[in-house]
Amino acid sequence: MHNTLTARQLGLQTGSRTLINPLDLTLKLGEFVTIMGPNGAGKSTLLRLLTGFLSPTTGECWLAGKPYAQWQRRQLAGQRAVMRQHNQLAFAMSAEEVIVLGISQYTMQRQRMIVDQVVALIGCQALCDRNYATLSGGEQQQIQLARVLAQLWKEDQPEGWLFLDEPTSALDLFHQQHLLRLLHRLTRNGKLMVCAVLHDVNLAATWSDRIVVIQQGALVADGSVQQVLTESQLTAWYQAELSVIQPASSSHPIVLLNK
Ligand SMILES: Nc1ncnc2c1ncn2[C@@H]1O[C@H](COP(=O)(O)OP(=O)(O)O)[C@@H](O)[C@H]1O
Ligand SMILES: [Mg+2]
Repeated sequence: MHNTLTARQLGLQTGSRTLINPLDLTLKLGEFVTIMGPNGAGKSTLLRLLTGFLSPTTGECWLAGKPYAQWQRRQLAGQRAVMRQHNQLAFAMSAEEVIVLGISQYTMQRQRMIVDQVVALIGCQALCDRNYATLSGGEQQQIQLARVLAQLWKEDQPEGWLFLDEPTSALDLFHQQHLLRLLHRLTRNGKLMVCAVLHDVNLAATWSDRIVVIQQGALVADGSVQQVLTESQLTAWYQAELSVIQPASSSHPIVLLNK
């Protein structure tokens, strides 16, 4: 149980609107899971429920054997981290100060050690002294990734539960590949789980162990890349005209929008 996050009949209703229909979902350490679905389907809302930032109106969520309500805030912060879709800062801060936000309880020496390792992994040394507010959207995403990896850093890698809401939306091709390769590799020894909301189905196809699809607040698919990314299902969920092809040289399908 300590290596799973379990949502049972997790749901959210506001007034007369159901934002998330009660759903069951299990996430395990060592997995790279993608959440997909149309705009406004409820992906960010589900992420907030799964991370304990929003209280459900039905069901509950257990992290490593304990419901969120029983976790101490400080303890939880060392176990699960969240990179949100939008990150506005109230104060002027350098990029490095943003990275340190989640590890301010450590000694300066330990902070320095973690920041150096995380920054080297991401390759964002050149951004550290810059004013965070003046960075481009893609540069800010690199710094936010550094912040959440630092928050979960243990001996020599991040461990625990990492949630990312559209982490590649502002990244160029090099950084999309670099970030997703890195996150995927970090999950392989079974100590880190990554759950990312991604819009790019081809990025999802390349790196996901599992894909969960949310449509109009309901979980409509939870399976392997091959099970989920079929032409008929994607067409039905997104109402887009597309083709799914399976190249002989690739282990995963490629999704093309029809002209
Ligand atoms: N606090 C809220 N109160 C009412 N409606 C909300 C609230 N938060 C989100 N919504 C609505 O719920 C739906 C799902 O939002 P969201 O989870 O952000 O979608 P997604 O991330 O899939 O694009 C949207 O229609 C949004 O407007
Ligand atoms: Mg969203």
